[in-house]
Amino acid sequence: MTKLPFVEEKTTKVGIIGCGYVFDHYMSTWDRHPGLIIKGVADIDQARLQTVAKAYDLSIYETNEDLLSDPEIDIVANFTSIESHYQVTRAALLAGKNVYSEKPLTTDLEEARALFALAEEKGLILSCAPSNALSDTSQTLWKAVRDGAVGDVRIVYAEFDQNVIYLMHPETWRSRTGAPWPYLDEYEQGCTYEHVGYHLTWLCAIFGPVDTVTAFSKQTLPDKTDLPLNPSDTPDFSVACLNFKSGVVARVTCSIGVPQNNRISIIGNKGMLSADTYAHYQCPVYLEQFSQLTLNARKARSVRNSTLLQRIFGVGGKKVKLVRNLPLPKMKWWSPRDILKKIKQSELGQQDKCVGIAELADSLLTGRPCFPPHDFTLHLTELTIAIQSAGVKSLTYVMQTNFEPLVPPKSTLECRINYNTTKSQTLLDRVVDKILIRMHKH
Ligand SMILES: NC(=O)c1ccc[n+]([C@@H]2O[C@H](COP(=O)([O-])OP(=O)(O)OC[C@H]3O[C@@H](n4cnc5c(N)ncnc54)[C@H](O)[C@@H]3O)[C@@H](O)[C@H]2O)c1
Repeated sequence: MTKLPFVEEKTTKVGIIGCGYVFDHYMSTWDRHPGLIIKGVADIDQARLQTVAKAYDLSIYETNEDLLSDPEIDIVANFTSIESHYQVTRAALLAGKNVYSEKPLTTDLEEARALFALAEEKGLILSCAPSNALSDTSQTLWKAVRDGAVGDVRIVYAEFDQNVIYLMHPETWRSRTGAPWPYLDEYEQGCTYEHVGYHLTWLCAIFGPVDTVTAFSKQTLPDKTDLPLNPSDTPDFSVACLNFKSGVVARVTCSIGVPQNNRISIIGNKGMLSADTYAHYQCPVYLEQFSQLTLNARKARSVRNSTLLQRIFGVGGKKVKLVRNLPLPKMKWWSPRDILKKIKQSELGQQDKCVGIAELADSLLTGRPCFPPHDFTLHLTELTIAIQSAGVKSLTYVMQTNFEPLVPPKSTLECRINYNTTKSQTLLDRVVDKILIRMHKH
């Protein structure tokens, strides 16, 4: 069995600054990483600090400075609001701590450069969310692309339509320990700053650095809240065409006014890889190896409207065995609570956000390079800012930053996937294809 890279043998002490909504997300999978010990937490909101300390039995630091001066802390996890990212990360680096920041690292490229310069001067690692490029789903996509499962990749589509958020009463959403979802902050920062990184991270990991980006961003929902917003016109829709140095082209969309769609499609000259969402770290990956049958069958309305027919004709492909790197939750199959949890995870997805911190901890312990490397995150920061600030004139932005193309982890490279199991049946291919070709003759 492959050794799981994220099962730490030694412990790493983490201090967490910022205990709001996302903090509870991290707590929901923290126990899958026994090597990560929470030394204590800090937050400027003292009431929130008391609540999480009680709920999770954690030690409290009165101030950020108290946390930063604890010599036992190896990693500071910065889960503060976006506007505090730079200041908190900088203070942690100055205190000699490795940092894992929530995304985006900053919303200013010069600040991001300054943070990496500071980290390198001090010999520290500055890592950043999102961590979904490490998910089993992303790793499987990466492996399949490298194995040539879809031939030469030409086009990629990645959607992040969060949902029609403003009709879903976001002001009532609460985390497990009662933190309100900071919807006004999300509106003011905008869905591009909040979300585009989830797709950029796996895209850039697989396809390398971007040469130019042509994007469009606009506020499409000026009436999403009656409350005043500052700024009042942050884009809530963006679409970007990324022109990768490798020749691949990707279209990435972000919105909060479209029903949920987080789909990934990687299309090559031999087939298509797809996954329903970036957000479920064990989301199945499908491979369709193009044939006359699969390409012609989808022209028929009945096939497009029937998953059974799609399956018979190979439209959309078949499941590929997932690369397994991440620890899965421990479940008691006889426990009704765990069964419900399992159903919830399979329906709504499960993000183990802690894998990014576990990856940083593992790299500190072993001395191997950490994912994401500094130049990669700087590139993603520049891309994020370019897409958010594109506006409606669609000017092409030439990227200033670059990074060395990455190689997947050894465990992913060593995994064997049998792509032949996804080939459509040749007999059916021959028979049905002839019928379909006749049907489509004009
Ligand atoms: N809300 C989500 O669903 C979600 C999901 C993924 C990632 N994120 C990211 O997580 C980060 C935090 O988002 P959130 O939703 O938890 O926000 P939040 O407003 O609920 O929580 C932020 C917390 O940070 C604290 N804080 C702010 N500035 C601070 C400072 N200088 N020192 C100490 N504490 C400080 C606040 O008091 C608050 O408790 C953001 O970067 C966001 O993009 C959020």
